[in-house]
Amino acid sequence: MENLEQLKKRIEEREFQIAVIGLGYVGLPLALSFAQEGFPVSGLDKDPQKVKALNEGKSYLDDIPSNQVEEALKRGFSATTRESEALAGADAVFICVPTPLTQTKDPDLSYVISAGKSVARYLKLGELVVLVSTTYPGTTEEVLLPLLQKGGRKAGAHFYLSFSPERVDPGNKIYRLRNTPKVVGGVTAACTELAAFLLSKIVDKVIPVSSPRVAEMSKLLENTYRVVNISLVNELAQLCRRMKVNVWEVIEAASTKPYGFTPFYPGPGMGGHCIPIDPFYLSWKARAYDFNLRFVELAGEINDSMPYFVVDLVTEALNREGKSLKDSRILVLGVAYKQNIGDLRESPALKIIPLLEEREAQVEYCDPLVPSLELEDRALTSLPLSDKPWKGADCVLLLTAHRVFPYQEIAQESRLIVDTRNAFQGLEGNIVRL
Ligand SMILES: NC(=O)c1ccc[n+]([C@@H]2O[C@H](COP(=O)([O-])OP(=O)(O)OC[C@H]3O[C@@H](n4cnc5c(N)ncnc54)[C@H](O)[C@@H]3O)[C@@H](O)[C@H]2O)c1
Repeated sequence: MENLEQLKKRIEEREFQIAVIGLGYVGLPLALSFAQEGFPVSGLDKDPQKVKALNEGKSYLDDIPSNQVEEALKRGFSATTRESEALAGADAVFICVPTPLTQTKDPDLSYVISAGKSVARYLKLGELVVLVSTTYPGTTEEVLLPLLQKGGRKAGAHFYLSFSPERVDPGNKIYRLRNTPKVVGGVTAACTELAAFLLSKIVDKVIPVSSPRVAEMSKLLENTYRVVNISLVNELAQLCRRMKVNVWEVIEAASTKPYGFTPFYPGPGMGGHCIPIDPFYLSWKARAYDFNLRFVELAGEINDSMPYFVVDLVTEALNREGKSLKDSRILVLGVAYKQNIGDLRESPALKIIPLLEEREAQVEYCDPLVPSLELEDRALTSLPLSDKPWKGADCVLLLTAHRVFPYQEIAQESRLIVDTRNAFQGLEGNIVRL
């Protein structure tokens, strides 16, 4: 078996075959970065449509232009649905599969386990395995390691195993994979060293830590910190409304403190793949230690209440106009979970629209970045922005502050606006702010 120095030499020489399992928001940029740095890369995904698109040089992610995929293909990148094609012969495998929650908010590690079993089938001497999917502390050593150790193989001796979380922020133009420091913790010191060495070829700064658990926990601290602070400000927004204080002005004022304060902003509820999900991985694991992670549970409760709060705001606003929510025409502006991207995952709009409909409002939406959306029982199609759909609505409900919306025009031409993002700040109109 090659020693660490020999493996590093092959990494330097780019004679090191990379496989990436799961070509989504996390795996695809990782695979393309390695390809860009001259590594032979094979991507494995079970979705044949993604694989077909990539092999035709097409990207399906907003952040990745198709020419980046074409460039990678020229350098030898390929995608496949067949695990033997990607995994047999791989020197390093990165696991970037989903880690969702079940209906009862328990971790669903089925994707990680299935990917781990695939890796185990093809594991060879000296191979490096890196788990990237966000998960609770202990997953790498308690779930993945036993799968790979079958047959008496030992981590650090026969193969290398590490955890290195992803910090990708969809839509962020400044911080990309290359300039976002990457934490890595291996099962042994050699595991950390090899993973850190390989990752340093695509990331400017690698932060080695003492174990996979520290790396796993650090990712969950980052996300829990956001969840708790967003929920704090959401609760404050509810109080401010009752006290008739403008919460946005309060945050702006507090933000002038030059140290010790980081602003977070209220909104209609949290969305995305990470923030509403990851902290529950931690609170689930905490229960195994007889520990109740109260901050996370409370934050979840407050954030879950936000869609209801927004529906109450709309009801109240209409009431003041002498109208009821029943039969009113509501135009939802923006349904993506965050501005300027088309990602709908866990978006609060998916809760708010059915809540409005349950109360018999007539709801339509306009989001140029989300042409259609699936509700439980049917699909909705976005009204074209060019039709100025706000003109016919009894109430415009702004959920996502996309750059493309002509705010001034909307403010002037709408009968009533409920603004959950302070997107109409400074504009005149009949505007009710969260
Ligand atoms: N999206 C983000 O912003 C972000 C940021 C940091 C961390 N993460 C974490 O990274 C992980 C992946 O997230 P994502 O957003 O890239 O998910 P995603 O859904 O965009 O992509 C996952 C891909 O894995 C594929 N897949 C699932 N099981 C597979 C298997 N056994 N073999 C091959 N392919 C398989 C799916 O088809 C899908 O294309 C999650 O743990 C997530 O929490 C996501």
